Amino acid sequence: MTHRILVIPGDGIGAEVMPHVLRVLGALDVALSIEEADLGGVAIDGHGTPLPPQTLTAAQASDAVLLGAVGGPRWDALPMDQRPEKGLLGLRAGLDAFANLRPALLFAPLADASSLRPELVAGLDILIVRELTGGIYFGEPRGVENASGRRRGFNTDVYTEDEIERIARVAFDLAGKRNGRLTSVDKANVLEVTQLWRTVVTEVHADFPHIELDHLYVDNAAMQLVRAPKQFDVMVTGNLFGDILSDAAAMLTGSLGMLPSASLNARGQGIYEPVHGSAPDIAGRDVANPLATILSAAMMLRYSLGEVEAADRVESAVDRVLEEGIRTADIVPVEDADGVRKVGTQAMAEAVIGAL
Ligand code: IPM
Ligand code: MG
Repeated sequence: MTHRILVIPGDGIGAEVMPHVLRVLGALDVALSIEEADLGGVAIDGHGTPLPPQTLTAAQASDAVLLGAVGGPRWDALPMDQRPEKGLLGLRAGLDAFANLRPALLFAPLADASSLRPELVAGLDILIVRELTGGIYFGEPRGVENASGRRRGFNTDVYTEDEIERIARVAFDLAGKRNGRLTSVDKANVLEVTQLWRTVVTEVHADFPHIELDHLYVDNAAMQLVRAPKQFDVMVTGNLFGDILSDAAAMLTGSLGMLPSASLNARGQGIYEPVHGSAPDIAGRDVANPLATILSAAMMLRYSLGEVEAADRVESAVDRVLEEGIRTADIVPVEDADGVRKVGTQAMAEAVIGAL
């Protein structure tokens, strides 16, 4: 069976890393039919819009989307609704990819690259489930207006109980396949919308009595993540809190350059992208870490294509390469450390192919 993949390289290191990742996929015994499309800055330049209609149509017709990253200083001055990020948000919404899975998994050889002491992160394996198509990212009304000559900016944080219920079900389900513990993160002491979040998550819990559920306020959750991250199994939260907590969790694993993500809809289609952005400051210099995108491709094989064995192979190959001491700049513990070899983007991808 041939899987239909839409590849969206995007901007910055996204576009730089993607050809290497496609070579990794090409080294597997998986039949893929690959189409490419533009999104973000490159789409603004080429089509005058960050999300060309043909990109969304192609995404909807594919089994999965593999995405690099979007954005860059060139497009920073554009109005909010024409920015590269708007293309990414439009793609997520257009595919109804509401369930964003962000695993923060520490590869053992990287324990010394974490910003926390090795014993605090050894064996770390957290899954952040972020609601991705609602909340303050999409809420209306929004804007900046003139109120008697002074400007006023506003956004709306809004969730319906149906939106909360469907992400809660995904999170409970995933907790059941892992260690059976779910932490729901909110700000229910201040925000009504997250009071409803807490109520609905608690109601859904009735259908998952075997899962241990607790609730944390987001400020406390952030503190606990950097204090004792191993207490968590699965965390579920809204769009904005999930954006923030997943960057923090990423750093625990050594580098933002290591973290993959999957954004799934109810039909099993998904957008697979690294948690990191387009990193324009290092783009084009062969220093970016391709592993987050390679691991995103592994998640694609696992979750949307059902190619579990190939996914395992890619993840083991990454493990082996790290075990051998091969590191991109972001995960080099200290310069000249024993047994560590610093490599560029291309050499890292080649090392993974070698290990396959
Ligand atoms: C992420 C990114 C995006 C987000 C940006 C680029 C719009 O930070 O995927 O975490 O905020 O969702
Ligand atoms: Mg983010």
